[in-house]
Amino acid sequence: MQKTKKLFIKTWGCQMNSYDSNRMADILRPLGYRAVDTPDDADMVILNTCHIREKATDKVFSDLGRLRPLKEKKEADGGKMLMAVAGCVAQAEGDFILERAPYVDMVFGPQTYHELPEMVLKANGNERIVNTDFDGDNKFDKLPEEQKNSGVSAFLSIQEGCDKFCTFCVVPYTRGSEYSRNVQEILDEAKRLVDNGALEIIVLGQNVNAFHGAGPDGSTWGLGQLLRAINEIEGVQRIRYTTSHPRDMDDDLIAAHGELDKLMPFLHLPVQSGSDKVLKAMNRKHTRDLYFDVIEKLRKARPDLAFSSDFIVGFPGETEEDFEDTMDLVREVGFASCYSFKFSARPGTPAANMQNLVRDDIASERLKRLQSLLNEQQIAFNQQSVGLTLPVLFDRKGKREGQLVGRSPFSQSVFVDGNARLMNTIADVKISEGYENSLTGDIVTDESVSRIAIT
Ligand code: SAH
Ligand code: SF4
Ligand code: F3S
Repeated sequence: MQKTKKLFIKTWGCQMNSYDSNRMADILRPLGYRAVDTPDDADMVILNTCHIREKATDKVFSDLGRLRPLKEKKEADGGKMLMAVAGCVAQAEGDFILERAPYVDMVFGPQTYHELPEMVLKANGNERIVNTDFDGDNKFDKLPEEQKNSGVSAFLSIQEGCDKFCTFCVVPYTRGSEYSRNVQEILDEAKRLVDNGALEIIVLGQNVNAFHGAGPDGSTWGLGQLLRAINEIEGVQRIRYTTSHPRDMDDDLIAAHGELDKLMPFLHLPVQSGSDKVLKAMNRKHTRDLYFDVIEKLRKARPDLAFSSDFIVGFPGETEEDFEDTMDLVREVGFASCYSFKFSARPGTPAANMQNLVRDDIASERLKRLQSLLNEQQIAFNQQSVGLTLPVLFDRKGKREGQLVGRSPFSQSVFVDGNARLMNTIADVKISEGYENSLTGDIVTDESVSRIAIT
């Protein structure tokens, strides 16, 4: 029998990176590797990195520095620890990582994971690997089936890469151009995820609504059509998708929000800025009015739809007036929860060479103002849930004994005291309190339902 080897993977960045980490574990399983929770005595350590904002590379090097003594100890004991850097920093920095950290064995980008067995073999033979190829075989065609315990809420990547080239963003360079998987492959994977216990499928792509996959009938399917097919799969109870671009929100996808009972009423739709001038400089390819228009159409299709978004403040050339346009957009739309960042110049992107930089203290002050408005909206949204009974998918245990944590349809974290048998199920919860980042409530038992019915 093959000797079991310990594999430690640390993941940064977006959900696609989490999906990829699971798939790397899948492809290394036949080689005897089993995932472990600490790097201490691992036979292989993979850092699956993110390059989206500054200090990404520094963080990786400081982590590598911390891991180095573990590798040296393992070697002193006669063993071997393969040290690998994967993900978007690996794609962006390539050779430079091997130069700066001579104890790193492997550096490989997101489009090469299907070649891992071969790369591991070479690295075990003391070859140092750098693989940042984009062309060649498609990784999705070559990855094995997923492991059995993919979880009650499972990620499914359907699309990768981006052709939008927003001027601030590294993704088109680190993930390459847009690629959509084949529809049948996706549906087969969704069915396997359900067979393995998933109740919720979270459909992923860097630009997920640009999906245009080959359908079983030979035609090209859009995301709306794909979601309809996933909605038909028995056992799927919830569907979400992320991340979308406002310009790719076509009418068919918008209509799907009104039709599909399993599609959750929560949508992450990054806008970045409320100023047309800044949107143009960002090469976002949409205006403020297009964003409003899309939101209005979506609300018409599904009136209870809640929105989240991403914002960048302090983009080069952003004036106080531009920033006020962003604040105004936020007030106009009303968001359930959002992410907001200070602009960070990424090497190799057009925005990194732009003039008219916004002073750091001004950008920080704007970020603070924006975040305080977004927080207000988030608390107000959570407090609106008080008194409602919401179906909650319980997927985590809380810190306190007997506490369970799950997600509402609007993606809010909900804390309850409940029986452990409710883990990995959907149960109704009467919401009692709404906070900034979570809700609390009580499980609605059959007994309490009948009590309500009697009174
Ligand atoms: N594909 C998604 C988002 C990808 S990155 C989209 O199109 O919106 C996630 C978020 O990180 C972005 O929405 C943006 O708000 C932020 N981000 C990306 N590059 C950034 C940069 N250079 N500086 C600051 N924030 C950035
Ligand atoms: Fe980056 Fe823009 Fe593509 Fe999103 S749409 S991944 S922000 S380039
Ligand atoms: Fe980061 Fe790469 Fe995702 S840069 S956000 S891990 S696509």
